[in-house]
Amino acid sequence: MCGIVGYIGHREAYPIVIQGLQRLEYRGYDSAGVAIYDGVDLKVCKTKGKVADLEARVAQDITTNGNIAIGHTRWATHGVPNDINAHPHLSNSGDLVIIHNGIIENYDSLRKELTTRGYTFESDTDTEVLINLIEDVKLNENVKLGKAVQIALNQVIGAYAIAVFDKNKPDEIVIARLGSPLAVGIGDNEFFIASDASPFIEYTKNAVYLEDEEMAVIRLGKPMKVRKIKDDSLVVPYVQELQMNLEQIEKGGYPHFMLKEIFEQPSAIKDTYRGRLLAKEGIIRMAGIDDNIERFLNAKRIIIVACGTSWHAGLVAEYIFEDLARIPVEVEYASEFRYRNPIISDKDVVIAISQSGETADTLAAIKLAKSRGAFVFGVCNVVGSSIARETHAGAYTHAGPEIGVASTKAFTTQITVLTLIALKLAKNNGSMSNSDFHHHLQELELIPEKVEKALQSDPHIQAVAEIYKNAKNCLYLGRGYNFPVALEGALKLKEISYIHAEGYPAAEMKHGPIALIDEQMPVIVIATKKGHYEKVVSNIEEIKARKGKIIGIVTEGDTNVKQLADHVIEVPETLESLSPLLTTIPLQLLSYHIAVMLGRNVDQPRNLAKSVTVE
Ligand code: F6R
Repeated sequence: MCGIVGYIGHREAYPIVIQGLQRLEYRGYDSAGVAIYDGVDLKVCKTKGKVADLEARVAQDITTNGNIAIGHTRWATHGVPNDINAHPHLSNSGDLVIIHNGIIENYDSLRKELTTRGYTFESDTDTEVLINLIEDVKLNENVKLGKAVQIALNQVIGAYAIAVFDKNKPDEIVIARLGSPLAVGIGDNEFFIASDASPFIEYTKNAVYLEDEEMAVIRLGKPMKVRKIKDDSLVVPYVQELQMNLEQIEKGGYPHFMLKEIFEQPSAIKDTYRGRLLAKEGIIRMAGIDDNIERFLNAKRIIIVACGTSWHAGLVAEYIFEDLARIPVEVEYASEFRYRNPIISDKDVVIAISQSGETADTLAAIKLAKSRGAFVFGVCNVVGSSIARETHAGAYTHAGPEIGVASTKAFTTQITVLTLIALKLAKNNGSMSNSDFHHHLQELELIPEKVEKALQSDPHIQAVAEIYKNAKNCLYLGRGYNFPVALEGALKLKEISYIHAEGYPAAEMKHGPIALIDEQMPVIVIATKKGHYEKVVSNIEEIKARKGKIIGIVTEGDTNVKQLADHVIEVPETLESLSPLLTTIPLQLLSYHIAVMLGRNVDQPRNLAKSVTVE
C-alpha cells in the first residue's frame, strides 16, 4: 500500500530515490512521483502510471541534481489514480512537501476546517490535507517543522508513514509512523528513508525501524533523534544489522519475480526448517514454541487469523493441527474476526499468519485478541514487521523477500512452519506415536527435493497453459488437506490472469457449481493417491459425464486418473499431511504461464498491492 523513499546526504539523491521506488513498486503502482531540492528550488514531478512512466516524465520535465529528495509509489485510497492525486504533495505556500503511506480518516473535517482558514486543495487526497495542516500549525504556532508535524499528527486519526521537508531548510527530513512501516538506513552522514530496507541495502546495513507513534527529525551532521509523537519523550533508537542482500531482491535471470520465487521454494522451505528440524535426532527446535509450550499445551483451541493466501495456509494448518495434534482449530478471516465481537479467552492461542507482517486487518485482529487475554503467536516472513513485533512470540518463515505480488513461496513456507509447530505439539501432548512422529520428520526433510522434482514438470505445465489460456472460467477442486490448495490455486489464477476461478471442496461441486460444467470449463482436480482418492475419482467421473475438461494433479505413476482426465500433472508421493507443499507447485506454474501468455503484468497485477496496510 504505497511505497515511500527519501534520501538526504552527500550523494545525488534522485538516482537513489528512483531506484528505491522501483524496488518498492510491489507496494502500489498506480502513480508515482518525486520531489528534489536542487539548492535553489524545489522540483516536483509526478504522474499516473508506473515508476518507469515517472522516469520518462522526469527526463522530460525537470533537472534532477540535488542531495535531498523524496519519492512515492501509490496504491490509491482517497482519489482516483491521476497526476494530481499522485504524491508528493505541496503545502499552499509551496514550501513544504510530503509523501504519505496510509489513510487519514478524519481528513474531511480537517479539510473543512482548513478551508475556512483560506486553504485550497488541488487534489482529492487526505495527504494534501495533512501537509496543509502541518503548514497551518507551523505558521500559527511559529514552531519548527518537527514540532509542527508532531502537533498536526496529534490531531489526526488514521494511519501513516510520512516524510516531510521544507525547501527553506533542506538539511532535514521529518518522518513519523503509525500503522505503516518506515525504516531509516544510517550511512556516513547520510540517511535513507523507505517503507522497507530494500531501497538502501547496497548503501548501508544499519537500519532503524520506527515503531508506531514515533517520529524523528533526520538532520545532516546530527545523530537521529526519535521521539514519541504523543508525549514528546525521547526514545533510544535500536540500530539493527540488516540480513537482506542485493541478490535476494533482484530477478536473478528470471523474467519475473513470481517465477523466481516459485523456483526458490526448495531452498526457501529448507531455510524455513533449517536449525529447527533435526530429523535424525527426532527433535523439533523452535524457541517461540519451546518458551511458551504450556500456553500451547493448555490451549482449549487455536484460532488462526489471516487474509488471502495466508488464510489459505491457515486452512491447511487447521487440517494439520486437528489431524496430527488433535487440537481444535478455527480459521478466521482477520477482517471478519476483528468486527464480529468474537468469543476469545485467555485459554485461547491465536496464530496470526502474514507474509508482509503489515496487513492492517490481521494487525487489528491481533490487538483485539490480546486485549481479551489470548496468547498471540505470529508466523511472518518480514523480519521486524509490525505483526512480528505486536505478537507475544512467533516464528519467522525465513522465505527471503517475496516481491511478486502473488504469494508463492510465502504460502509453502508458512505451511512448513505450521507443520513444524503441529508436529512439535503432537509429540508433546502424546497424540502422535514416536514412530509416526519420526516418519513425519523424515518426510518433511525430503520435501525440498520433491518440490524440485515437481518443478521439473514446468514445460508440460506450460503446454497445458497454452491449451487453456483463453478459458473464461476455471474450477479448482480438492478434498481434505487439498481443499485449501484448490482455493489457493483459484486465487492465483484470478489475481494474475484475471480469469474467473473458484475453488471448492470436490464433493461440494454437486451442490451448485456442477451447473457450470460444460465442454468449455477446465476443472483442475487435485487427486493425489493419499487422501480420499477414490472419492475424488468419483468426482472426476461426474465432471467427465458433463464433458468438463479435466486437469488432474496426481501422484507420480498414477494410471487411473490418466485414463479419465484430459491432462495429468504429476507430483511426487508424500504423506497426505505434507501433500499441499507439492500439489501447490503445478497450480502456481499453471497460473503463471497463463498470465504470461495473456500478456498480464504478472508481478504487479492490476488493482493489487503487496502489503495491504489499509482495511
Ligand atoms: C495473494 C496475496 C494476498 C496476501 C494477503 C495477505 O497472492 O498475496 O492474498 O496473501 O494480502 O498478505 P500478508 O500475508 O502479507 O498478510
